[in-house]
Amino acid sequence: MWVLIFTTIVVLIIFRLKKVYSYWKDRGVDYVSPLRSFGPFAENILRMNSHSEVLKRIYDEFPNKRYVGFYNIFQPVLIIRDLELVKRICVKDYHVFHSHSEIIPSELDDLWSKHLFNLTDKKLWNNLRTPLRQFFTTNKLKLSFPVIQKVSRNLINYLKTKSKGQPYTLETREIFKRLLNDISANAYFGVNCDAINNGENEFMYMARKAMSISMMSGVKHVIANLFPRLLKSMGAKIYSKEVRTFFTSIIKQSIKMRYENEFRGPDVINTLLQLYDADKSHLDNLSESTVKNITAQAIILYFAGFETTTSTLSMLVYEITLNPDIQTKLYEEIVNTLKGFNGTVSYDAIMAMEYLDNVVKETLRLHTPTSLLDRRAMSDYEIESEDPKEKTLLVKKGTPVWILQKAIHLDPNNFPNPEKFDPDRFSYGNKQNIKNYSHIPFGSGPRSCLGYRHAMVVVKLTITELLLNYELLPTNKTYVKNSSKTYNIIDHGVWVKLNPRMK
Ligand code: HEM
Repeated sequence: MWVLIFTTIVVLIIFRLKKVYSYWKDRGVDYVSPLRSFGPFAENILRMNSHSEVLKRIYDEFPNKRYVGFYNIFQPVLIIRDLELVKRICVKDYHVFHSHSEIIPSELDDLWSKHLFNLTDKKLWNNLRTPLRQFFTTNKLKLSFPVIQKVSRNLINYLKTKSKGQPYTLETREIFKRLLNDISANAYFGVNCDAINNGENEFMYMARKAMSISMMSGVKHVIANLFPRLLKSMGAKIYSKEVRTFFTSIIKQSIKMRYENEFRGPDVINTLLQLYDADKSHLDNLSESTVKNITAQAIILYFAGFETTTSTLSMLVYEITLNPDIQTKLYEEIVNTLKGFNGTVSYDAIMAMEYLDNVVKETLRLHTPTSLLDRRAMSDYEIESEDPKEKTLLVKKGTPVWILQKAIHLDPNNFPNPEKFDPDRFSYGNKQNIKNYSHIPFGSGPRSCLGYRHAMVVVKLTITELLLNYELLPTNKTYVKNSSKTYNIIDHGVWVKLNPRMK
């Protein structure tokens, strides 16, 4: 009897899997076999390779295809290779692809599902993105520049205290994390932190906890993907209770302080207060959902910029340390440009540095911090055939669509000799050779990165201050890469020797 039940279950599962995994074959789309589709998960979980590097291998296997079928565990995903299709999905036909895939059911964790990145409802998303956008305009960034500069100078002072005028060996990822913490805690939570001098600072500690939960949430993602109801019925959340309570209470304190001091300046918290509960004038009158909504947005603004900007700073330092000619050219540009600005590092001065801009762009190309842009078809969508061997493809409503940034950035058809760190690709004379939509570290279209200008300011300012004070030299701990596998480099830590400049 049991044997019969067991056999029936196995047959049903096999039958179901066969149906799921024939999705791309049935549509005549070239695809990665289901077994191989597990590769990215396995290699990532076993820390053999990053998600983006495994996906790049898949992208490279289909050099002549505009798109490729893939299975994200059980879910069919369309991987886009063609740059014209990237444009259609991100920009031209954005009305169809305005949303990300909902990996975790929205009702599972409100702090997670209510934040800007995860909002799937176009109207709700737009109502939130529009007021937040004002904080990332040039004018606003100029106003917040002194605050960012104060933190970056705190970093230099910290390094000076440590190095005492002598060469000093440093692992840069950790110190850049502390820098980002201090900048973002102030900008989005209204809290002054000094994690640079005290890495055990409570805010930083809780943020690390929340982010390691986010990494752990990889496992929850898989469970949510397979058994969403199970997770919900278990009352599972993405963020732990401790993390939720901590960040919510920080936001409450910030709001209280605003009411008590009648501080109504147009910062992120006040703007969100205005958006959610404009008529309230006391913390006690605010609804729980307003506090949660504001906390959710502060968390995403903090987290979205944290790993991405830290990784960009570290990888930039790494590349210019191993490429002294580039470092010298960059240092000379910084010194020469500042001469035109009374020797003062200002917003306008760092924005006037063209080579610095090229170095940052090339870092983002070669060491793209995020692995893919994901979109979901919100209605059926046709991709017309372009050659006789291809059929017109109907992308069914709900299908996730992935654009593999790193694979596109390292495709020799887009960037010749792609493994080489060569900022001159973006120089004034060369930039017309860069294909549209081939350089997409911040995504593209209305759903692209909200904070990209902010990130550029933080990276450019920090590198300027660092190079003005130190020459960067390799140490015997500096891992020397044999490919652009950022993952390996980061695993070893990004070690440099800071050699103080004589002034
Ligand atoms: C080097 C640093 C950064 C990189 C490479 C980066 C990259 C990205 C990418 C690839 C996306 C998805 C875009 C798309 O799907 O088209 C994104 C979205 C986003 N980023 Fe960034 N980011 C960086 C820094 C920041 C910073 C500093 C902030 C906050 C101040 C930020 C806030 C956001 C937000 C809120 C979204 C979601 C936007 C939406 O869905 O409307 N990012 N970012």
